[in-house]
Amino acid sequence: MNSGKPNILITEPIPAKVIDHLRDFANVTVGEKGYFQSEENLINEIQPYDALLCMLSVPVTEAVMKAGSNLKIVANFAVGYDNIDVETAGSLGIRVANTPDVLTEACGDYAMGLLLALSRKLKEAEQYLRDGNFKGWEPLGFLGMELRNRNLGIIGMGRIGQAFAHRARAFGMNILYHNRSKLDPDSEKALDATYIEDSGELAEKSDVVSLNCPLTDNTHHLVDSDFLNRMPVHALLINISRGAVIDEVALAEALHNKAIAGAALDVFEKEPEVHPKLLTAPNTLLLPHIASATHRTRQDIGMLAADAIISVLNGKDDREIPNLITP
Ligand code: GLV
Repeated sequence: MNSGKPNILITEPIPAKVIDHLRDFANVTVGEKGYFQSEENLINEIQPYDALLCMLSVPVTEAVMKAGSNLKIVANFAVGYDNIDVETAGSLGIRVANTPDVLTEACGDYAMGLLLALSRKLKEAEQYLRDGNFKGWEPLGFLGMELRNRNLGIIGMGRIGQAFAHRARAFGMNILYHNRSKLDPDSEKALDATYIEDSGELAEKSDVVSLNCPLTDNTHHLVDSDFLNRMPVHALLINISRGAVIDEVALAEALHNKAIAGAALDVFEKEPEVHPKLLTAPNTLLLPHIASATHRTRQDIGMLAADAIISVLNGKDDREIPNLITP
């Protein structure tokens, strides 16, 4: 490492343009895919680095930050930052950044894609054809749920929840939402959205429930057997937030017992593990955490994280760095 420049660890390969951008300014080390998902590896190697640009799969714990005695900033390559112990970072004077806004539209598109695929049984229908079962047009084959006039219940009406709601409105859906706080009247009006204070009541009234909230103590296992029992039997569940918002055992049971009609899951509680009972559940789409995976968005995510690092290492005032998290 060149001693005149700061040292940055990027925990795994990200778009090359972002790495080049940081190399103009610092000595950059890029880890191997998956290597720094191990807390032990991170603890052993973090010490020389002034900044960490990490993936959401990397556990940035108290032990990691204490081992990183030169760390000034941890920038997550994600909007969700439940993998980072933000309190400890604050107490150690380490800044934390995330990447809001830049992934909103990609995630809104993706949630709509999951809803269309799930409600029209595209996965099963395609498999049926590939298995050689398509013998001609069938009047009763693969009948799904039409979206017009159906209720979409969104839990977590932040940027991504609202982006999904706007798309669903264009398909004629009614929007219900549960959130820490009510939207301002203009945003609510633009979506014709109805606030529901009680998440269980939202479960009862929704034909589709979509999880778009951060993972916090309040949202951990928010979708449990009680919630699932309150959903109508024809209802669908979509999760692009964090796996642990759902009690996966309860969900697998509900799907196998046909207590709800299907689920599209982009995230899992113990990624990359998927609960074995979800793997065999009917009408269930299981995807490898790809809601923000477009070329443009992943580059924008990287640039936003990289710019927060450059700003902090250059001593810029925190108030001028919009994507810093305050503990
Ligand atoms: C992806 O899950 C993110 O939080 O950006």
